[in-house]
Parts: sequence; structure tokens; C-alpha cells
Amino acid sequence: MKKYRFEYFASCPTGLEELLGQELMSFGAQRIEAIRGGVQFEAFHEVALKTILMSRLASRVFKFLYQFEVNNEKDYYLEATDIKWKSLMDVTHTFRLTTIFGDLPGEREEFRNSQFANLKLKDAIVDYFRHHEGERPSVAKEFPDVSFLARIDRGQEKPYVVTIMYDLCGDPLNQRGYRIAKTEAPVKENVAAGILKLVKWDPEKEDLMDGMCGSGTFIIEGALMAAGIAPSFLKVERHLKNPDYKQWTFLNYPWLTKDDFLQENFKKLLNEISESTTQGLKKLETMKGHFCANDLSEMSLISARDNIKKARLDKVIELTQIDARVLNPNQRPTLFICNPPYGERLEHGEEEKLKALYKGLGDHWKHNFKGHRAALFTGNLDMLKVVGLKTAKRHIIFNGDIECRVAEYSLY
Ligand SMILES: C[S@@+](CC[C@H](N)C(=O)[O-])C[C@H]1O[C@@H](n2cnc3c(N)ncnc32)[C@H](O)[C@@H]1O
Repeated sequence: MKKYRFEYFASCPTGLEELLGQELMSFGAQRIEAIRGGVQFEAFHEVALKTILMSRLASRVFKFLYQFEVNNEKDYYLEATDIKWKSLMDVTHTFRLTTIFGDLPGEREEFRNSQFANLKLKDAIVDYFRHHEGERPSVAKEFPDVSFLARIDRGQEKPYVVTIMYDLCGDPLNQRGYRIAKTEAPVKENVAAGILKLVKWDPEKEDLMDGMCGSGTFIIEGALMAAGIAPSFLKVERHLKNPDYKQWTFLNYPWLTKDDFLQENFKKLLNEISESTTQGLKKLETMKGHFCANDLSEMSLISARDNIKKARLDKVIELTQIDARVLNPNQRPTLFICNPPYGERLEHGEEEKLKALYKGLGDHWKHNFKGHRAALFTGNLDMLKVVGLKTAKRHIIFNGDIECRVAEYSLY
């Protein structure tokens, strides 16, 4: 069995791997390798901690613990009972297990069902504790104290290789804590931040306008980026007020609790984030008028208002309620970002309405956005053709399971 040291995996929405790699490099990570859906890297523990607190793009951060090869599920159980689980968690901790299949042959006799593999691992942990401690820890699907991920791939010496990892986060990092009100089809927070980076939005040079803001994700992420406020700022605030509230699972792990240096580092980072939030909010006061969010629907605007307030950006972001096809750019160069309805379940006549919406946006930008930029994010690839403008660039990105496109337009 191989025990990994200082090796991590940060997952992210597919399409953002390269940008996440750059972000990780800026935090001090080394030997960065992008794979589909994330980035593997080597780093000191404090760099992984920084990633959890500061990354705008990562969904979760995992620490590699063990890797071993097996022939079948029975082997898997036996190997897993050999792991010294009590060095990873206490018997009083609740735990959650997730098993995913990576690169595996389609036709196979074993490991056909990830739930079954998960059950084998659970049995191994429970039996290990019963044997060594005389009692067993409980499983918790929600709010576990400890969370493990097992990934099973094609092996080299034996047919399968299992990698066991700590999930250092618990709740996904894209759940920043400001989205208290949702609308239909919101974009994930790290997808929104990633799109702003993909289109190289520079807050010093361009204002940001979201013509169809829904719950306000783009404009909130944009304002936080412009102010240099860490995406974890609300979680950090909550933790500073109530350290017993476990915002992140790593707070329960010996990874932190047995490492005095890392604990010092953690405190320092928390204070830095708190300080930069205060500075960032001050900076934003000088940027009034630079961030505009708009939606035609009253319900969407109510959600956006609640979320913007929760993110403490209500003094900075302007909200309007008009048709996006008549929304004019600011005096300063403006990036018009927009995520129109996809129309996943089109009823009779809806397709025509949707076409009119996309075409209307294209026509409006063509005539009224000269010298500005637009970026359209959609999961409906057919509708992109209807816009009728030449794209400067296109990017593929997944919002959850949906393959989406970002089309960038430079308007002359
Ligand atoms: C897919 S949702 C946007 C989700 C948003 N990006 C978020 O993260 O919550 C599309 C939004 O477009 C709005 N919308 C549809 N047609 C519009 C129009 N003509 N003008 C302005 N907003 C419109 C809808 O009310 C809805 O809130």
C-alpha cells in the first residue's frame, strides 16, 4: 500500500481546469497536472488550505491518503481493513463515503456498481473500529464530521487501483453562503467566476452588466473579484464568530489538529481574509455604478436583491427591471454578460420566443454596444446560431451535467 505525502486534488467544473491550474500556481502549488474535472498538485499543507479559502474556481479539495491495487471487491474490503482508520478519524466522528469510478473498462466482472463498492468500504471502516475500539462510528449523509472519497481506476499489476482521499471541504466551495434565494437554473458560483476569467474581464478597465441576472451570481462574483474579497469571506466571518461551528470538514482532521504550524497559518489566513474583506468593501464604495444587474422578472429581482444583500454588496450593485434588449451600456467600456433561459423543456411556440430573444440580443448589441463587449452563456447550442454576430471566441464549460458554451463578442 502506498501512502501519499503532500498530494492533493482540486475538483472544478469541466472546462475550468487550466484556469484552476493557474490559480493553484499563484497560491504556490507545484507539479500541477490538469485532468478532466480537476487538477492534481503537490503542495505544502498551507497551500491546500489557501486553496480551500481563496480559490474562486475549485469545487472541492481532496488530500490523497492511500492507494492500492485489488483484484475484486473482496480484496478491496480486506485491503481497506488494513488502513489505520483511527489515525484519520475518531470513533465518535460521523462519516460520509463517496465512491466514484474513473477510467475503468466498460466490460468488467467486478466493480460494476459504485454503491456496492461504497458499501464494502463502509463495512471495512466499521469492522476496523469494532475490532480495535469495540464500537463503531456512524454514517451521516449530511453534515458529516469526516468525509472520504474513493476513486477506482484501471490498475497496472492488478485490474483495479483504489485511491482513498480526505474531502477537506464538506460542503462544496462554490456554496459561498450568499445564495439564500434561488431562481430557476442558476449558474454555479465557481462557473460564474470562471466565465469572467475565461473572457478575461478586467474590473479596472470594464464595467460589468448582467442583463438577465436571475439570482445575481455573475454580478456578485464579479464584485467580489474586483474587490479582492475571498470567496469564503462569509464562512470565515461565521467561523470567527463561532469557531465550534464546523464550516469545513478539515477542522476535524488530524491533518489540522495535530499540526501546530498549520493551525497558526489557518488563524493568520482567517485574519487576512477578514481584513481584506473590510478593505475590499471600502474599495467597492469608490466603484459605484460599475456593477449593474437587471432582470425582467420580479421574482428574480427579489432573489437577486436578497443574495446581494447577504453578500453585503447592496450599496454597490445597481438593480434594474427592463427588457435586456433595451439595456444600454455605461459610459465606460462595459462587458454585458448574460445567461438567457435555455429552454430545456420547450412547450409549443416557446422555441420561436426563445429565438426572438437571442436574435434580439444580437441585434441590440450590434446597434447599441459599439466599443463594448458581450459574453453569452448558454446550454442551448442551437440558439447561439440565432444571435447572428461573429464570435470573437468560444469556450466549452459544464454547469453541473449540462454542456454549455460561452460566446464572446467584441462589438465594433
Ligand atoms: C437562466 S436564468 C439566469 C440565471 C442567473 N445567471 C443565475 O445565476 O441565477 C435567465 C433569466 O433571464 C431572465 N429573462 C428572460 N427574458 C428576459 C428579458 N427579455 N430581459 C431580461 N431578463 C430576462 C429570466 O427572468 C431569468 O431570471
